Amino acid sequence: MAKKIIITIDGWSSCGKSTLAKQLAKELGYVYVDSGAMYRAVTLYFLRNNIDLAEKKEVKKALKDINLEFVFNPKSNNSEIYLNGENVEYLIRDLIIAEKVSDVAALKEVRALAVAQQKKMGAKKGIVMDGRDIGTVVFPKAELKIFMTADNAVRVQRRFKELYEKNPNVTIEEVKDNLEMRDYIDSHREVSPLRKANDALEIDNTHLTEQEQFQKALVMVRKLIGSK
Ligand code: DC
Repeated sequence: MAKKIIITIDGWSSCGKSTLAKQLAKELGYVYVDSGAMYRAVTLYFLRNNIDLAEKKEVKKALKDINLEFVFNPKSNNSEIYLNGENVEYLIRDLIIAEKVSDVAALKEVRALAVAQQKKMGAKKGIVMDGRDIGTVVFPKAELKIFMTADNAVRVQRRFKELYEKNPNVTIEEVKDNLEMRDYIDSHREVSPLRKANDALEIDNTHLTEQEQFQKALVMVRKLIGSK
């Protein structure tokens, strides 16, 4: 049996990280973990409970009341996130969450909680995790680190299409503003800002199909673990 490794996929918002991560996990029989879902679920909890992000005590207390879990759903063929026992996988994709999530993810208390849980998930290897700090902070010793990029206009179009299918009232300007704001906050925050790890391999998928990006990544994987 081929050796199991850890694959990290970091990059800007809406770069196709989760698409690639899911393709690789399926091909290799690995677990896929969407680390962004954890920050989104915490954001949902904070919004529902009117937590003031500037009040450290309030934030710390709230975090004690939060339990996050991933449960595999065979119907969607995906691990879905549960917040205190409630499946919130679909709720957290809303633009309302996207508008707040970067501020929440910038809090060191929130990151400490998420990162500790993420590290545990990688203990047995055989995992593909996507996010912003996975190759730099969560798994700095991962065997394969991928950093994804794509032109802004292409990213905005992709994200708009995704959100429009759920809510036809969404505008392209809203989506563009949100992506720009998140990229800025995610890459400028004090704790674990988004950056490419020195040993990460870059994939720019502006002009690649999903199949082409998958093939490129698979070549990287096969160099490390050999063929099936
Ligand atoms: O990948 P995503 O768009 O679902 O992530 C939502 C937000 O969570 C993103 O704007 C930044 C934050 N995030 C993070 O700070 N660190 C991660 N490892 C994953 C996501």
